[in-house]
Amino acid sequence: MSAPHRTDTPPASPSPSSPFLDGRPKRLLIGGQWVEAASGRTFPSVNPSTGEVIADLAEADAADADRAVTAARAAFEGPWRRMKPRDRQALLWALADAVQAHYEELRLLEVLDMGSPIGRPRSGSAPSPAWEAEVLRYFAGWATKIHGETIPNSIPGSVLSYTLKEPVGVVAAIVPWNRPVSNAVWKIAPVLATGCTMVLKPAEEASLVALRLGELLTEAGLPEGVVNIVTGFGESAGAALAEHPGVDKVAFTGSTPTGRRIIHAAAGNLKRVSLELGGKSPDVVFADADLSRAIPGAAMGVFANSGQVCCAGTRIYVERPIYDEFVDGVSAFADGLRVGNSLDPRTKIGPVVSAEQLARVTGYLEVGRAEGARITAGGSRLETEGLAQGYFVAPTVFADVRDDMRVAREEIFGPVACVLPFDSLAEVAARSNDTTYGLAGGIWTRDVGKAHRMASEMQAGTVWVNTMLLFDPAVPFGGYKMSGWGLEMGQHSLDEYLNVKSVWINTD
Ligand code: NAI
Ligand code: MG
Repeated sequence: MSAPHRTDTPPASPSPSSPFLDGRPKRLLIGGQWVEAASGRTFPSVNPSTGEVIADLAEADAADADRAVTAARAAFEGPWRRMKPRDRQALLWALADAVQAHYEELRLLEVLDMGSPIGRPRSGSAPSPAWEAEVLRYFAGWATKIHGETIPNSIPGSVLSYTLKEPVGVVAAIVPWNRPVSNAVWKIAPVLATGCTMVLKPAEEASLVALRLGELLTEAGLPEGVVNIVTGFGESAGAALAEHPGVDKVAFTGSTPTGRRIIHAAAGNLKRVSLELGGKSPDVVFADADLSRAIPGAAMGVFANSGQVCCAGTRIYVERPIYDEFVDGVSAFADGLRVGNSLDPRTKIGPVVSAEQLARVTGYLEVGRAEGARITAGGSRLETEGLAQGYFVAPTVFADVRDDMRVAREEIFGPVACVLPFDSLAEVAARSNDTTYGLAGGIWTRDVGKAHRMASEMQAGTVWVNTMLLFDPAVPFGGYKMSGWGLEMGQHSLDEYLNVKSVWINTD
């Protein structure tokens, strides 16, 4: 075990609040109205830095899901359907402006509800600090550029054929809790650009951002029923949406086991499904890498957002000649990360999202120990002063991990890095692909040829070279293998929300 962690005492007033957190139970957004759940039940939302309840949320069940789907269907059949692309574009721009104008508040809700550090460093690629506003603007641009083709055919006579691209209809978007603003906006933007309508179900652990977004969208002029928001649990509200015959498509982000359940639930009416699922992404550090960049880069590729990132580079393969130096460096880096209340601007690593997630992650720390991995940083829950009521885990490095260990195979979704030595490119290519997942991969090298070779070997939807975790609304993101179906971001993600209709005209 290494040096003790730098932790923080909480800031003097640990609860600067948003006016949104006014103590009144939150409601569901259905057909443009804020309504209580049919059952009248509520459930608490907890600040994972403190364990305090910050709001009560309406607990939707199948009856509410049905109401929301009916509202989305009515909106889809109504004036929304005839709205011109230009007007949908203008609406998306207005929503982007609203998100940008209220970004601090949305971030504060994210910080309080799921523990993302308020001083989180912005991604190097982010075109603006409020980058989800850029996602909305990117998709606003597409609203006027969705069109079919005129296609020559070989039918005798004069027959014209062309295609139309039409919205699939009512989308159920079921999202997780790890980046609440992004989780919601990544679904809302393509739904509106393509002219679909939706029911959004945020995660039970962190629904406040979605609800505030619902208010902002309504104020910005979103027609009623186009975006409906139901809060509730996966097994009830989520499952009811996934199997609802009035839903044309499910857009899901979350765990692979739940993704599989959604596929089964979707079978009833053969609804379309897109899935952005889990990962156990490799991050390969070659001996010629610039370690002054590779060490912090690979470390934050795991520890960012307390490891609650679908594409985290959790299996760090390090070429043997630099293995010891890398293990020492990444362990020292982990030990130096300031863990604390997510409201403290100095905090680099906040809590994990919930008591349940804490139990999962600390359970894996025991598994790794029992499997014989060597802990060179962290290794336990942090319960020092000010942190005991929250769900904090010390950034942990497991060295000398073997490929067959559970900690090297299963998605932990916590601040836990596994480091494994390798000897050749061919070997590491095979080992890094020996996983059921295929979401992302990282490569650190100064050799451009090696970078391209390794990038082409990796069976993953995204490969980062000499960087990690970059996103841009124009660049597609999606998983190979059991990491998902379909794409988000970029031009081709629109097709996930569109049907193609072929029209034949006999002009004789
Ligand atoms: P989850 O995948 O069960 O939850 C994500 C969303 O799906 C939530 O909105 C939830 O209410 C909903 N859901 C759950 N069961 C459902 C069902 N049967 N039908 C329809 N919707 C359902 O993930 P959870 O339980 O929050 O986290 C457990 C583990 O999953 C994490 O420890 C992590 O390993 C993994 N996970 C991975 C994510 C990723 O982006 N790769 C995101 C969230 C979780
Ligand atoms: Mg919460």
